Amino acid sequence: MLLKTLYLSLDPYMRGRMNDAASYAEPVAIGGVMTAGTVCEVIDSNLEGYSVGDVVLAGSGWQDYALSDGEAVRKLDPSAGPLSYALGVLGMPGFTAYTGLLQIGQPKAGETVVVAAASGAVGSVVGQIAKLKGCRVVGVAGSSEKCAYVTDDLGFDTCLNYKDADFAARLASACPDGIDVYFENVGGAVFQAVLPLLNVWARVPLCGLIAHYNATSLPDGPDKAPLLMRNLLTKRITIRGFIIFDHYADFPVFFEEMSGWLRDGSVRYREDMVESLVAAPEAFMGMLEGRNFGKLVVKVAERSD
Ligand SMILES: NC(=O)c1ccc[n+]([C@@H]2O[C@H](COP(=O)([O-])OP(=O)(O)OC[C@H]3O[C@@H](n4cnc5c(N)ncnc54)[C@H](OP(=O)(O)O)[C@@H]3O)[C@@H](O)[C@H]2O)c1
Repeated sequence: MLLKTLYLSLDPYMRGRMNDAASYAEPVAIGGVMTAGTVCEVIDSNLEGYSVGDVVLAGSGWQDYALSDGEAVRKLDPSAGPLSYALGVLGMPGFTAYTGLLQIGQPKAGETVVVAAASGAVGSVVGQIAKLKGCRVVGVAGSSEKCAYVTDDLGFDTCLNYKDADFAARLASACPDGIDVYFENVGGAVFQAVLPLLNVWARVPLCGLIAHYNATSLPDGPDKAPLLMRNLLTKRITIRGFIIFDHYADFPVFFEEMSGWLRDGSVRYREDMVESLVAAPEAFMGMLEGRNFGKLVVKVAERSD
Protein backbone atom coordinates (compact mmCIF):
# COMPACT_ATOMS: atom_id res chain seq x y z
CA MET A 1 0.00 0.00 0.00
CA LEU A 2 1.02 3.61 -0.50
CA LEU A 3 1.02 5.72 2.64
CA LYS A 4 0.88 9.50 2.98
CA THR A 5 2.44 10.85 6.17
CA LEU A 6 0.08 12.98 8.23
CA TYR A 7 2.06 13.21 11.50
CA LEU A 8 5.69 12.43 12.26
CA SER A 9 6.99 11.80 15.77
CA LEU A 10 10.28 13.39 16.84
CA ASP A 11 11.89 11.46 19.71
CA PRO A 12 15.26 11.71 21.49
CA TYR A 13 16.25 8.13 20.51
CA MET A 14 16.75 9.37 16.95
CA ARG A 15 19.96 11.07 18.06
CA GLY A 16 21.45 7.61 18.76
CA ARG A 17 20.53 6.47 15.24
CA MET A 18 22.83 9.22 13.91
CA ASN A 19 25.91 7.71 15.59
CA ASP A 20 28.00 5.10 13.83
CA ALA A 21 28.24 3.03 16.99
CA ALA A 22 26.96 -0.30 18.23
CA SER A 23 23.63 0.05 20.04
CA TYR A 24 20.32 -1.77 20.42
CA ALA A 25 19.37 -0.65 16.87
CA GLU A 26 21.32 -0.18 13.65
CA PRO A 27 22.27 3.42 12.83
CA VAL A 28 20.55 5.08 9.88
CA ALA A 29 22.77 4.74 6.80
CA ILE A 30 24.00 7.89 5.09
CA GLY A 31 21.42 8.60 2.41
CA GLY A 32 18.86 6.40 4.22
CA VAL A 33 15.47 7.57 5.48
CA MET A 34 15.60 8.81 9.08
CA THR A 35 13.64 6.48 11.37
CA ALA A 36 10.39 7.70 12.95
CA GLY A 37 6.96 6.64 14.06
CA THR A 38 4.29 8.11 11.78
CA VAL A 39 0.54 8.40 11.43
CA CYS A 40 -0.33 7.86 7.77
CA GLU A 41 -3.30 7.76 5.45
CA VAL A 42 -3.64 4.88 3.00
CA ILE A 43 -3.60 6.42 -0.49
CA ASP A 44 -3.61 3.20 -2.51
CA SER A 45 -3.80 -0.42 -1.43
CA ASN A 46 -3.31 -3.91 -2.82
CA LEU A 47 -3.15 -5.30 0.71
CA GLU A 48 -6.02 -7.25 2.15
CA GLY A 49 -7.51 -5.51 5.18
CA TYR A 50 -6.39 -2.00 4.20
CA SER A 51 -8.49 0.37 2.10
CA VAL A 52 -7.98 3.84 0.68
CA GLY A 53 -8.72 6.38 3.42
CA ASP A 54 -7.72 4.14 6.35
CA VAL A 55 -5.41 5.76 8.89
CA VAL A 56 -2.54 3.69 10.28
CA LEU A 57 0.33 3.91 12.73
CA ALA A 58 3.53 3.09 10.85
CA GLY A 59 7.27 3.46 11.17
CA SER A 60 7.76 5.05 7.77
CA GLY A 61 10.23 7.75 8.85
CA TRP A 62 10.98 11.30 7.79
CA GLN A 63 9.31 11.29 4.36
CA ASP A 64 6.05 12.44 2.79
CA TYR A 65 5.12 9.09 1.23
CA ALA A 66 6.10 5.47 1.82
CA LEU A 67 5.36 2.03 0.47
CA SER A 68 4.38 -0.56 3.06
CA ASP A 69 3.83 -4.31 3.00
CA GLY A 70 1.78 -4.01 6.18
CA GLU A 71 4.54 -5.18 8.52
CA ALA A 72 4.61 -3.36 11.88
CA VAL A 73 1.56 -1.31 10.86
CA ARG A 74 -1.52 -0.89 13.05
CA LYS A 75 -4.88 0.54 12.01
CA LEU A 76 -6.09 3.53 14.02
CA ASP A 77 -9.66 4.44 14.86
CA PRO A 78 -10.10 8.10 13.81
CA SER A 79 -13.20 8.42 16.02
CA ALA A 80 -11.20 7.50 19.15
CA GLY A 81 -9.55 10.91 19.54
CA PRO A 82 -6.79 13.00 17.95
CA LEU A 83 -4.80 10.80 15.57
CA SER A 84 -1.45 12.26 16.67
CA TYR A 85 -1.97 10.86 20.20
CA ALA A 86 -0.90 7.48 18.78
CA LEU A 87 2.63 8.93 18.66
CA GLY A 88 2.50 10.21 22.24
CA VAL A 89 0.34 9.56 25.26
CA LEU A 90 -1.43 6.58 23.61
CA GLY A 91 1.71 5.34 21.89
CA MET A 92 5.40 4.68 22.48
CA PRO A 93 6.17 7.52 24.96
CA GLY A 94 3.04 6.93 27.05
CA PHE A 95 3.70 3.19 27.09
CA THR A 96 7.31 3.87 28.13
CA ALA A 97 6.14 5.98 31.06
CA TYR A 98 3.58 3.38 32.15
CA THR A 99 5.90 0.39 31.88
CA GLY A 100 8.98 2.01 33.38
CA LEU A 101 7.16 3.44 36.34
CA LEU A 102 4.86 0.54 37.18
CA GLN A 103 7.06 -2.45 36.34
CA ILE A 104 10.46 -1.14 37.44
CA GLY A 105 9.64 1.81 39.71
CA GLN A 106 6.88 -0.09 41.54
CA PRO A 107 5.62 3.03 43.33
CA LYS A 108 3.68 2.62 46.56
CA ALA A 109 1.24 5.12 48.07
CA GLY A 110 3.00 7.64 50.27
CA GLU A 111 6.40 7.21 48.60
CA THR A 112 8.36 10.07 47.03
CA VAL A 113 8.80 9.85 43.26
CA VAL A 114 11.13 12.24 41.40
CA VAL A 115 10.66 12.61 37.64
CA ALA A 116 13.21 14.14 35.27
CA ALA A 117 12.19 15.98 32.06
CA ALA A 118 8.86 16.32 33.82
CA SER A 119 7.04 18.44 31.24
CA GLY A 120 7.98 16.16 28.33
CA ALA A 121 6.24 13.30 26.56
CA VAL A 122 7.38 10.57 28.95
CA GLY A 123 7.96 12.53 32.18
CA SER A 124 4.56 14.25 32.16
CA VAL A 125 2.82 10.87 32.04
CA VAL A 126 5.11 9.26 34.65
CA GLY A 127 4.29 11.94 37.23
CA GLN A 128 0.56 11.80 36.62
CA ILE A 129 0.49 8.01 37.00
CA ALA A 130 2.54 8.29 40.20
CA LYS A 131 -0.06 10.75 41.55
CA LEU A 132 -2.83 8.28 40.64
CA LYS A 133 -0.92 5.68 42.72
CA GLY A 134 -0.94 8.00 45.75
CA CYS A 135 2.71 9.11 45.68
CA ARG A 136 4.25 12.46 46.45
CA VAL A 137 5.64 13.59 43.11
CA VAL A 138 8.49 16.01 42.50
CA GLY A 139 9.16 17.07 38.91
CA VAL A 140 12.39 18.44 37.50
CA ALA A 141 12.31 20.61 34.36
CA GLY A 142 14.34 23.26 32.55
CA SER A 143 12.32 26.47 32.97
CA SER A 144 9.93 28.16 35.40
CA GLU A 145 7.21 28.09 32.72
CA LYS A 146 7.55 24.32 32.38
CA CYS A 147 7.58 23.91 36.17
CA ALA A 148 4.38 25.98 36.50
CA TYR A 149 2.69 23.72 33.93
CA VAL A 150 3.87 20.59 35.74
CA THR A 151 2.37 21.66 39.07
CA ASP A 152 -0.66 23.72 37.97
CA ASP A 153 -1.88 21.66 35.01
CA LEU A 154 -0.49 18.18 35.67
CA GLY A 155 -0.91 18.18 39.45
CA PHE A 156 2.63 17.24 40.55
CA ASP A 157 3.23 18.30 44.17
CA THR A 158 6.18 20.46 43.23
CA CYS A 159 8.62 21.04 40.37
CA LEU A 160 12.18 22.37 40.41
CA ASN A 161 14.25 24.01 37.70
CA TYR A 162 17.57 22.14 37.41
CA LYS A 163 19.17 25.25 35.91
CA ASP A 164 18.84 27.13 39.23
CA ALA A 165 22.24 27.50 40.93
CA ASP A 166 20.98 25.99 44.21
CA PHE A 167 19.06 23.14 42.52
CA ALA A 168 20.68 20.35 44.60
CA ALA A 169 19.78 22.08 47.89
CA ARG A 170 16.23 22.77 46.68
CA LEU A 171 15.79 19.15 45.68
CA ALA A 172 16.96 18.03 49.13
CA SER A 173 14.41 20.27 50.84
CA ALA A 174 11.65 19.19 48.44
CA CYS A 175 12.35 15.55 49.42
CA PRO A 176 12.54 15.60 53.24
CA ASP A 177 11.94 11.82 53.40
CA GLY A 178 14.42 11.05 50.61
CA ILE A 179 13.59 9.58 47.19
CA ASP A 180 12.02 6.14 46.75
CA VAL A 181 11.67 6.17 42.95
CA TYR A 182 13.70 8.27 40.55
CA PHE A 183 12.51 8.09 36.93
CA GLU A 184 15.69 8.81 35.00
CA ASN A 185 15.28 10.55 31.64
CA VAL A 186 18.30 12.82 31.56
CA GLY A 187 21.44 11.90 33.56
CA GLY A 188 23.97 14.71 34.05
CA ALA A 189 23.52 17.27 36.84
CA VAL A 190 20.04 16.02 37.74
CA PHE A 191 21.30 12.52 38.57
CA GLN A 192 24.21 14.00 40.56
CA ALA A 193 21.69 15.84 42.77
CA VAL A 194 19.40 12.81 43.09
CA LEU A 195 22.01 10.17 44.02
CA PRO A 196 22.70 11.25 47.63
CA LEU A 197 18.95 11.48 48.31
CA LEU A 198 18.04 7.95 47.20
CA ASN A 199 16.58 5.87 50.02
CA VAL A 200 17.40 2.31 51.03
CA TRP A 201 15.58 0.02 48.53
CA ALA A 202 15.10 2.90 46.04
CA ARG A 203 14.23 1.98 42.44
CA VAL A 204 15.55 3.84 39.39
CA PRO A 205 13.92 3.03 36.04
CA LEU A 206 16.68 4.09 33.64
CA CYS A 207 14.71 5.29 30.66
CA GLY A 208 16.96 7.87 29.00
CA LEU A 209 20.09 10.00 29.34
CA ILE A 210 19.34 12.94 27.07
CA ALA A 211 21.93 15.20 28.73
CA HIS A 212 24.61 12.95 27.21
CA TYR A 213 23.23 12.19 23.74
CA ASN A 214 25.40 14.79 22.00
CA ALA A 215 28.54 13.84 23.95
CA THR A 216 31.44 12.44 21.94
CA SER A 217 33.57 11.43 24.94
CA LEU A 218 33.28 10.89 28.68
CA PRO A 219 33.44 14.08 30.78
CA ASP A 220 36.70 15.04 32.49
CA GLY A 221 36.93 14.82 36.24
CA PRO A 222 37.29 12.29 39.02
CA ASP A 223 36.02 8.76 38.46
CA LYS A 224 32.69 8.71 40.29
CA ALA A 225 31.93 5.06 39.57
CA PRO A 226 33.08 3.94 43.07
CA LEU A 227 30.74 6.49 44.69
CA LEU A 228 27.84 5.27 42.58
CA MET A 229 28.64 1.61 43.27
CA ARG A 230 28.94 2.19 47.01
CA ASN A 231 25.52 3.88 47.05
CA LEU A 232 23.99 1.02 45.07
CA LEU A 233 25.51 -1.53 47.43
CA THR A 234 24.89 0.03 50.83
CA LYS A 235 21.38 1.28 50.04
CA ARG A 236 20.38 -1.84 48.05
CA ILE A 237 19.27 0.38 45.15
CA THR A 238 17.93 -1.09 41.91
CA ILE A 239 18.80 0.74 38.71
CA ARG A 240 17.34 -1.00 35.69
CA GLY A 241 17.67 0.12 32.11
CA PHE A 242 14.85 -0.74 29.75
CA ILE A 243 14.02 -0.31 26.08
CA ILE A 244 10.33 -0.20 25.44
CA PHE A 245 10.28 -2.42 22.35
CA ASP A 246 10.93 -5.44 24.63
CA HIS A 247 7.54 -4.92 26.30
CA TYR A 248 5.00 -4.69 23.48
CA ALA A 249 3.17 -7.85 24.57
CA ASP A 250 1.75 -5.66 27.38
CA PHE A 251 0.65 -2.82 25.08
CA PRO A 252 -3.10 -3.67 25.06
CA VAL A 253 -3.32 -3.45 28.87
CA PHE A 254 -1.62 -0.04 28.79
CA PHE A 255 -3.79 1.20 25.93
CA GLU A 256 -7.00 0.28 27.70
CA GLU A 257 -6.02 1.90 31.00
CA MET A 258 -4.49 5.04 29.49
CA SER A 259 -7.52 5.58 27.22
CA GLY A 260 -9.70 5.52 30.33
CA TRP A 261 -7.47 7.98 32.19
CA LEU A 262 -7.57 10.38 29.23
CA ARG A 263 -11.35 10.08 28.93
CA ASP A 264 -12.01 10.78 32.62
CA GLY A 265 -9.41 13.58 32.78
CA SER A 266 -7.03 11.79 35.20
CA VAL A 267 -4.21 12.22 32.68
CA ARG A 268 -3.67 15.44 30.75
CA TYR A 269 -1.51 15.76 27.68
CA ARG A 270 0.20 18.53 25.79
CA GLU A 271 1.62 18.47 22.26
CA ASP A 272 4.20 20.75 20.72
CA MET A 273 3.04 20.65 17.10
CA VAL A 274 5.41 21.86 14.38
CA GLU A 275 4.14 22.49 10.85
CA SER A 276 5.82 20.84 7.81
CA LEU A 277 8.52 18.23 7.31
CA VAL A 278 11.03 20.95 6.40
CA ALA A 279 10.89 22.18 10.01
CA ALA A 280 11.73 18.73 11.45
CA PRO A 281 15.56 19.00 11.69
CA GLU A 282 15.47 22.35 13.52
CA ALA A 283 12.70 21.12 15.84
CA PHE A 284 14.66 17.94 16.56
CA MET A 285 17.84 19.85 17.45
CA GLY A 286 15.71 22.15 19.64
CA MET A 287 14.41 19.17 21.61
CA LEU A 288 17.96 18.24 22.63
CA GLU A 289 18.20 21.73 24.15
CA GLY A 290 14.77 21.71 25.78
CA ARG A 291 13.07 24.04 23.29
CA ASN A 292 10.08 21.72 22.93
CA PHE A 293 7.25 22.06 25.44
CA GLY A 294 5.26 18.80 25.44
CA LYS A 295 5.35 15.89 22.99
CA LEU A 296 7.09 17.05 19.81
CA VAL A 297 5.13 16.13 16.67
CA VAL A 298 5.43 17.36 13.09
CA LYS A 299 2.23 17.87 11.15
CA VAL A 300 3.28 16.83 7.66
CA ALA A 301 0.02 16.88 5.68
CA GLU A 302 -3.74 17.21 6.01
CA ARG A 303 -5.93 14.16 5.80
CA SER A 304 -7.81 13.90 2.50
CA ASP A 305 -11.50 14.89 2.57
N1 LIG B 1 13.94 3.54 27.17
C1 LIG B 1 13.03 3.73 26.23
O1 LIG B 1 12.53 2.79 25.62
C2 LIG B 1 12.61 5.15 25.93
C3 LIG B 1 11.44 5.42 25.20
C4 LIG B 1 11.06 6.75 25.01
C5 LIG B 1 11.84 7.79 25.51
N2 LIG B 1 12.98 7.48 26.19
C6 LIG B 1 13.82 8.53 26.78
O2 LIG B 1 13.02 9.30 27.65
C7 LIG B 1 13.56 10.62 27.74
C8 LIG B 1 12.44 11.63 27.49
O3 LIG B 1 11.98 11.47 26.16
P1 LIG B 1 10.69 12.27 25.64
O4 LIG B 1 10.31 11.69 24.36
O5 LIG B 1 9.69 12.35 26.74
O6 LIG B 1 11.29 13.74 25.36
P2 LIG B 1 10.81 15.12 26.00
O7 LIG B 1 10.97 15.03 27.48
O8 LIG B 1 9.48 15.49 25.45
O9 LIG B 1 11.89 16.11 25.39
C9 LIG B 1 13.21 16.05 25.79
C10 LIG B 1 13.44 16.97 27.01
O10 LIG B 1 14.66 16.62 27.64
C11 LIG B 1 15.09 17.72 28.40
N3 LIG B 1 16.54 17.89 28.30
C12 LIG B 1 17.27 18.11 27.20
N4 LIG B 1 18.56 18.25 27.51
C13 LIG B 1 18.65 18.12 28.87
C14 LIG B 1 19.72 18.19 29.80
N5 LIG B 1 20.99 18.42 29.39
N6 LIG B 1 19.46 18.00 31.12
C15 LIG B 1 18.19 17.79 31.52
N7 LIG B 1 17.12 17.73 30.68
C16 LIG B 1 17.36 17.90 29.36
C17 LIG B 1 14.40 18.97 27.82
O11 LIG B 1 13.46 19.42 28.80
P3 LIG B 1 13.88 20.57 29.86
O12 LIG B 1 13.56 21.88 29.23
O13 LIG B 1 13.04 20.22 31.02
O14 LIG B 1 15.36 20.42 30.07
C18 LIG B 1 13.66 18.43 26.61
O15 LIG B 1 12.44 19.11 26.40
C19 LIG B 1 14.71 10.68 26.73
O16 LIG B 1 15.93 10.46 27.40
C20 LIG B 1 14.42 9.53 25.80
O17 LIG B 1 15.57 9.04 25.15
C21 LIG B 1 13.38 6.19 26.40
